[in-house]
Amino acid sequence: MALRGALLRAADRMLPTHAAVLEHAHHFVMAHLLASLAEFRIADHLASGPKNAGQLGALTGCDPGALHRALRAAAVFGVVRLDRRGRFHTTRLLRQLRSDHPGRAADWCRYIGSGSHQAAWAALSDSIRTGNSAFRSVHGRSTFEWFADHPEEGRHFGAGIGGLTLAEAPLIAAAYPFPDGAVICDVAGGTGALLAEILRTRCRSRGILIETANVLAEAAPYLQAAGLTDRVQLAEGDIFLAVPGTADIYLLKWVLHDWDDATCQTILRSVRAAMPTGAKLVVIEGVQDHNSVHPRFSVIDLQMLVVTEGGRERFIAQLEHLITLSFNLNSGHSSSYVNYSHICLVAAWSTAVSLMLGVTTHPAYPPAPAVTLMAPRH
Ligand SMILES: C[S@@+](CC[C@H](N)C(=O)[O-])C[C@H]1O[C@@H](n2cnc3c(N)ncnc32)[C@H](O)[C@@H]1O
Repeated sequence: MALRGALLRAADRMLPTHAAVLEHAHHFVMAHLLASLAEFRIADHLASGPKNAGQLGALTGCDPGALHRALRAAAVFGVVRLDRRGRFHTTRLLRQLRSDHPGRAADWCRYIGSGSHQAAWAALSDSIRTGNSAFRSVHGRSTFEWFADHPEEGRHFGAGIGGLTLAEAPLIAAAYPFPDGAVICDVAGGTGALLAEILRTRCRSRGILIETANVLAEAAPYLQAAGLTDRVQLAEGDIFLAVPGTADIYLLKWVLHDWDDATCQTILRSVRAAMPTGAKLVVIEGVQDHNSVHPRFSVIDLQMLVVTEGGRERFIAQLEHLITLSFNLNSGHSSSYVNYSHICLVAAWSTAVSLMLGVTTHPAYPPAPAVTLMAPRH
């Protein structure tokens, strides 16, 4: 990643500085182009071979002239290739947008390019000025409330997040010693991508997926396709009120970063209330230190500022603090359900570092935090 950053900065230096700045200003075009290419399923249409805009226009119902101009612009970024005969060819980037690709990049691009999301980003300065969610200031409600009223957008978000999780799930399943035979409850677990990967590698384990009704409707066919219908209980729940599941291990992945500290404590207390003695909580979050630049999480952190209700990428001490408060660790109750069992950092893709933070409620664990940092694998 350091090399990539250096190459990108070197590429900037190949342009007059003024032009380099303006080129960055035009990068918003990319988000919209990818969303449109995904909407018109250009990746599917080019899978069988190159086509010109006339052929693609007939397949998509688009204006051929406008489509040619859009795809020619996409070729600037290497998303498609344009040959001398006016035919567009697929590329390794475009193949990620195939509607049958498990990474679900097409869904994610449609979410990122959606009007509601882009309108929130257009109000970025409001967020920076006030520290509050631009999404709420523009739309008058939270992103998840919006999804409840706009299920198609929620579906793109859910499927896209599932694709992102799928890329990390094998690393998480390998990095954390989930015991075979355990019941694992994924709290706000999306469409079940992580749960499915853990259960795939632990044949005797069962799962509980807690989610909103809309997301569970997407999770059911996903888990059915994975052959896990019999091993996963779908449980509709509101994580602010209660976590309806009794399990050995509770997962919270990329949930806390959606919320401010007070709301995180509400969620953690809901989980705590559901946990029987001996259960464990595994929190998986991106780690963003205050004064370091991370190529992935520094941008996701800003995304959280714009679209969530006080969400952020946190550093380890902040997550520890939230869990300590919510679980009453180090308080008079701590002897019965203490302690950080371990923290490990795992590399997700080749670039990202996620935090897995295990908290145990087992009385046998000593009260002093025992923190182990494992070097990220690249
Ligand atoms: C950023 S996504 C993470 C999904 C999943 N854990 C993953 O990493 O793939 C946050 C999830 O929280 C869920 N969620 C939001 N509010 C919720 C609530 N009140 N009760 C249950 N789930 C909720 C959303 O539906 C969404 O799937």
